[in-house]
Amino acid sequence: MKACIAGIGSYVPARVLTNADLERMVATSDEWIRERTGIRERRIAATGEACSDLAVQAGKRALTAAGLAATDLDMILVATCTGDYPLPATACLVQYQLGATKAAACDLSAACCGFVYALSVADAYIKTGMRHVLVIGSEVMSAITDWTDRNTCVLFGDGAGAAVVSASDGERGILSTHLRSDGALCELIMVPGGGSRTPPSEKVIDERLQYIKMKGNETFKVAVRSLEEIARSTLAANHLRVEDIDLYVPHQANIRILKAVMERLSLPIEKVMLNVDRYGNTSAASIPIALDEAVREGRIKDGSLVMLGAFGAGLTWASAVIRW
Ligand code: ACO
Repeated sequence: MKACIAGIGSYVPARVLTNADLERMVATSDEWIRERTGIRERRIAATGEACSDLAVQAGKRALTAAGLAATDLDMILVATCTGDYPLPATACLVQYQLGATKAAACDLSAACCGFVYALSVADAYIKTGMRHVLVIGSEVMSAITDWTDRNTCVLFGDGAGAAVVSASDGERGILSTHLRSDGALCELIMVPGGGSRTPPSEKVIDERLQYIKMKGNETFKVAVRSLEEIARSTLAANHLRVEDIDLYVPHQANIRILKAVMERLSLPIEKVMLNVDRYGNTSAASIPIALDEAVREGRIKDGSLVMLGAFGAGLTWASAVIRW
């Protein structure tokens, strides 16, 4: 018994925030952002549009692609670091909106690796008897972005992607997943205020601690090393060579990180899904949005061998190999 992706879908908010728009907000330039990150524009949720709203749209599209009804679902997992509320779980709001009356629902917090971590959880549940798990990565990063901090505000965007993971007894399916973490590096990417360590207060607001802080340059170096390491061990675990991979779908954080990884792995750019230019870093939503676009563009077909690679706060890093 394998777990396969039976349907995929994504949703991004309508509002586009360009680099030219950011030039009017902080001391930056379109040229700096494009050269240092590869990002041209990103999507921003409308006022009142929250994580579950994006997740529901992506989830509906994935269900349609899989030819299933919400009532077929056994479980909904929402990977996010920008849920609607500290509690309840955003997955419960999605469960209600979709009408998934037989589904368990919970959130998973692993930042940019959330989707791959959740895929791994879904894989394990399918192997122990569940039939259909809806895995969603959904983020409203704009809600935790400090729009006065040029070091971070140019990087992030909002969006959601979803995959229906179903039991399959054929060749297709998730071949393996690989998950890593190193909490010693937790301070590289952090929202320092608003949690139980430093609950909401005037001090939190005054010092802007409710927003994401990142040591970008240090993160960059660890990201390149970690993505290379986990790709190599994933290939080795499956007795595969880089040449066997039809498409590498990485977390879209920064084009320079991805080019360094491609070079280290001798992976040609034609075999890499890139859309960071249009969406920026959408954290847990980034890989499922990229997967959905790759399917719709015909870059992933039945039988394609697809490798995922993610990296983010925690620190966490993760990968998966899927026979589509
Ligand atoms: N516009 C103009 N100048 C800027 C901007 C900006 N938007 N942002 C920073 N700068 C300046 C800095 O102030 C610095 O100036 P200084 O030398 O005078 O101090 C200079 O540019 C260089 O800054 P660096 O931080 O060294 O730039 P770097 O080349 O490392 O690029 C970046 C920064 C894009 C953040 C990069 O380090 C990066 O992408 N890091 C990894 C991000 C990542 O992968 N995060 C993981 C996922 S996030 C999550 O988990 C939620």
